[in-house]
Amino acid sequence: MRKIDLKEHLIGVEEELASLILRISDTTVRIEERLPYMRNMAKTSNIYGELQSAMDVWTDGLFINELMKSGLIKIYASEEGKDLLTLNYRGKYNIVCDPFDGSSNLPSNNLVATIIGVYDKDCVVKGKEILFPRGKDQIASMYFLYGPVLSMIYTIGKDVHEFIYRPAEKKFILENENITLPEPPKVYGIGGLRKKWLPKFRKFVEELEEKGLKQRYGGALGGDWQQVVKYGGIFGYPALEGNPNGKLRVLFEAFPIAFIAEQAGGTSSNGEYSILEIQPEKLDQRTPFFVGNKDLIERLEEILQS
Ligand code: F6P
Repeated sequence: MRKIDLKEHLIGVEEELASLILRISDTTVRIEERLPYMRNMAKTSNIYGELQSAMDVWTDGLFINELMKSGLIKIYASEEGKDLLTLNYRGKYNIVCDPFDGSSNLPSNNLVATIIGVYDKDCVVKGKEILFPRGKDQIASMYFLYGPVLSMIYTIGKDVHEFIYRPAEKKFILENENITLPEPPKVYGIGGLRKKWLPKFRKFVEELEEKGLKQRYGGALGGDWQQVVKYGGIFGYPALEGNPNGKLRVLFEAFPIAFIAEQAGGTSSNGEYSILEIQPEKLDQRTPFFVGNKDLIERLEEILQS
């Protein structure tokens, strides 16, 4: 049976949103093509003080250009940018973007990703900050994995679908429709140094190990989460000794992936409540982050709150 491509799959979706998703997907093909030629570090740092790779800088510029050309985006916020950018005052959507997630995987030729969340709700001004709405207000989110193949996983707030890019046809072809997290869960991936995990959290991970879940950790959120999508389980980057908010960024990483997790029949948590309920207070906010099968996340919350 002929498999449908992304354009066909988006028939029936609001025209401007469909066109935005197609433009983003085309942009990731250019990123995929660039990968073999741009493997060096840049000499700049992002707002978190992390040294940027040349790809971090280039992909950020690429998305800014492409989204500006689309005319569809009002505010663009990126993990690599120091400030929000207004691309078009009349733009219909606001976007949060981690253009090149997991760039430290580049030298070892491991997985890297692009992560994006889309809102049609306005940002609000509070003092000197322009604040994005909560994660639950996203109308779409998606991520692209630059792995053995280029893949795309997206939701428009209902159901989650996976596509694989076929270079010969220059198309993203449907691979899996209406994805749900498998049961029973088989894998777990946890970031941060084990010796810095807090005691209650360590107890939770010991339980996972006793249950026989296998460890899977690659160091790029998109890829590590995708292990959970395929095999069921949990991915987390917890609060650490000295870092109560863990590492992952609320807007650019936590919100888009949590939105997908909750549409795929899983759930998300910061240890107390859904990631999607977090009220962003600043651009560079971080949060402890957990996504996965519901039972596991419920047990985690139970242990952390005991
Ligand atoms: O925040 C960037 C990122 O690379 C995520 O994609 C990933 O989950 C995490 O950092 C990995 O962190 P660490 O290097 O501490 O394992």
